[in-house]
Amino acid sequence: MEIKITKTTNPGVMPPESQLGFGKVFTDHMFVMDWDSVNGWHDARIVPFGRIDLHPASTVLHYGAEIFEGLKAYRRADGGVQLFRPMENIRRMNNSAERMCLPLLDEQDAFQALTEFVKLEEKWVPKSFGTSLYLRPFMYGDDEVLGVHAVHRATFMIIASPSGSYYAEGINPVKIMIESEDVRTVRGGTGYAKCGGNYAASTRAGERAALKGYSQVLWLDGVERKYVEEVGAMNVMFKIDGEVVTPKLTGSILPGITRKSCIEVLKNLGYTVSERLLSVEELVSAMESGKLEEAWGCGTAAVVSPIGKLAYAGKEYEVNGGKIGEVTQKLYDVLTGIQWGKLPDDYGWVYKL
Ligand code: PLP
Ligand code: COI
Repeated sequence: MEIKITKTTNPGVMPPESQLGFGKVFTDHMFVMDWDSVNGWHDARIVPFGRIDLHPASTVLHYGAEIFEGLKAYRRADGGVQLFRPMENIRRMNNSAERMCLPLLDEQDAFQALTEFVKLEEKWVPKSFGTSLYLRPFMYGDDEVLGVHAVHRATFMIIASPSGSYYAEGINPVKIMIESEDVRTVRGGTGYAKCGGNYAASTRAGERAALKGYSQVLWLDGVERKYVEEVGAMNVMFKIDGEVVTPKLTGSILPGITRKSCIEVLKNLGYTVSERLLSVEELVSAMESGKLEEAWGCGTAAVVSPIGKLAYAGKEYEVNGGKIGEVTQKLYDVLTGIQWGKLPDDYGWVYKL
């Protein structure tokens, strides 16, 4: 695929790395590619970062035809830059596209787009451990008619943001509220797809939880409101009586790439990992009996994030004395070690640019 590059005449400067936060600063350029049902994908280009032009009837604005991905470019100690399991994101994006009737990407073209874009924006990959260049590929339908149907026009873009930690707490334990009113998605819905609508539906509960001092909510399944699913921007894992338990992928949970990687690392470290249904009653009883030893979330933005407090039905439970647990710490060390190139990548997960 040929990518036309138009460089900015007004390059920006990286803010101090300690002040990056998450997703607030953007790089100099963006990748754009158009699709229509007659010509397929065409006009792959990298252009100066800027606003986009949308017709007021555009499908994305009315019917939410939008999907996205999140992955990171990491700076190794030797100065080089690497991606973590990028093909997994491209494949998941195509699964999301299929669910939302958006056009599929050619995997190799998407990979080329990602790698050429990151190479051009290399100076924006921060250097401090824990920081990275967060990459946000996304696609939206932009038919200029109001009828509801599969789109005939779409745009694929990649933007990038040098970022620090997602939670203000960093690696310190977060407080999570188990949500029993709103639901995020249901089986048969769009939970397994990474589409904007899932996040729009999640916002109200997240805001209510934030008012009470919680970082995010832990969703229960949308049918029975009985089984634990995932947190707003991460999958969850619990160590209960020696066993690591994580909700199995039932269709309403995002199949996290970090989740999948954590499961492999944990099994390799000799832990028993069980992907199964976990009811909120079982979780509460484990908290009450002291059998819940550790809890953490995992995701690209959140990395491995210890959960120090869980609230449910008006009660608050402390996990592991509100401190990061041994398995959580080990997992964090191994995963971030591979991602930032401090540990050998025995799994073949990193792609060096
Ligand atoms: N669950 C949700 C709802 C998410 O937004 C994310 C973040 O992408 C995850 C889980 C974790 O997925 P991954 O590890 O692929 O980033
Ligand atoms: C990610 O971890 O990449 C996410 O997409 C989380 C996000 C919604 C901020």
